[in-house]
Amino acid sequence: MTGEPCTAAVGLQWGDEGKGKIIDWLAGDAKHVARFQGGNNAGHTVVAGGEKTVLHLIPSGILRERCRCHIGQGVVLDMQALLEEADMLEKAGIDVAGRLSVSGGCALVLPHHVALDEARESGSAAIGTTKRGIGPAHEDRAGRRALRLSDVIGGGYEEKLAASLRHANCELAHLHGREPVDPESVREWIDGKASRVAPLVADVAAELRRARDRGEKILLEASQGALLDVEQGSYPFVTSSSCIASAGAGGLGVDLRPKVIGIAKAYATRVGLGAFPTEIGGDAAETLVEKGEEFGATTARQRRVGWLDVPALRHALAVNGCKEIALTKLDVLGLLDTVKVCVGYARDGKALGSWPAGNDELERCEPEYVEMEGWGRMPEVAGAGDIPEACARYVEKVSELCGARVSILSLGPERAATMWLERQEALA
Ligand code: IMP
Repeated sequence: MTGEPCTAAVGLQWGDEGKGKIIDWLAGDAKHVARFQGGNNAGHTVVAGGEKTVLHLIPSGILRERCRCHIGQGVVLDMQALLEEADMLEKAGIDVAGRLSVSGGCALVLPHHVALDEARESGSAAIGTTKRGIGPAHEDRAGRRALRLSDVIGGGYEEKLAASLRHANCELAHLHGREPVDPESVREWIDGKASRVAPLVADVAAELRRARDRGEKILLEASQGALLDVEQGSYPFVTSSSCIASAGAGGLGVDLRPKVIGIAKAYATRVGLGAFPTEIGGDAAETLVEKGEEFGATTARQRRVGWLDVPALRHALAVNGCKEIALTKLDVLGLLDTVKVCVGYARDGKALGSWPAGNDELERCEPEYVEMEGWGRMPEVAGAGDIPEACARYVEKVSELCGARVSILSLGPERAATMWLERQEALA
């Protein structure tokens, strides 16, 4: 993995940086992989042995036989999504039941949360969510009316469900003119699933504390990215959880003090609405979308694309306490004749010293660019010495501008197309 007992792999952009791929690769010698926030809004894609697997809830470590996987109480849990994903993996011959623990403290995503998310997204206040009910489920948790997984195992949760539904139905009926959600249908929905999820419930925090004390390697898997973080992202066009490394302690119930690896795509993408200062259109955008297959793994929406944004990356690195970057999709960016990197912003004609986290301010930022040449089709790369010179210059420039070491390069979707830069070692 990284030589450290615990590593957190986090997104440094607006999600979709290639976290699934890098986490699967780092998990090659990890014993545990743990998700600590988000829900099934995530879409982590792993390509191994020519097989593509998209995971939304179960940690990417599930594809590594020796890994035990954990879902901490910071994750909001849609039991149906969990069971569907577990079934898909079990059908492919992957043992989930024996290798996955889920915290009973996870707040549940229920049908009325999905109904609320959909109703809000059909109005003028839409922000382009994944419509998976993630925001409303987090609101119930913060509002202290959430049903947690442990509440529904064994039944007797009617009062809590009534409190959550009262809230949701009031908004559905009075703000959106929608039919209220019938409590009986939600009870049936829950009861049909809770008994199947029950065997997975475990004390995730205690398991991870024991693993740490035994010196076993633990990998924390973040979803989304720092620029979508509810505190540190381009608010209000953000997700509802904190996606940065420090959220791992609260979301798992154990502070593992991880070494942080930030994952960034060699260019930028964003799905959903919100400011995107380096967004581009035209031929360059078409190439990136087509060659980079820039379509959301969860909602299949086409991603918006743009140039790498250094002020945003510096912000993401700072809030994560991260000094190390895994740079992905270099094979895609290099196909352009000329590539640009945003090195700073100007606002109202004046240079801006830092990334303005609020969306309104970000909308008014004018990016300033440096241009570099592309490097064409990526050759077979066995070690750092085989990387095209123009690509190596790009990587060096990113490192210098960000003030962080680029330590991992990803040059294609397969596991084998990944390497430690300084160790010059390709892992399959
Ligand atoms: P929500 O998380 O579904 O509430 O969506 C809030 C914002 O986060 C929207 O812009 C989504 O497109 C974005 N988002 C949520 N999860 C992901 C992800 O895994 N990758 C990229 N964007 C995401």
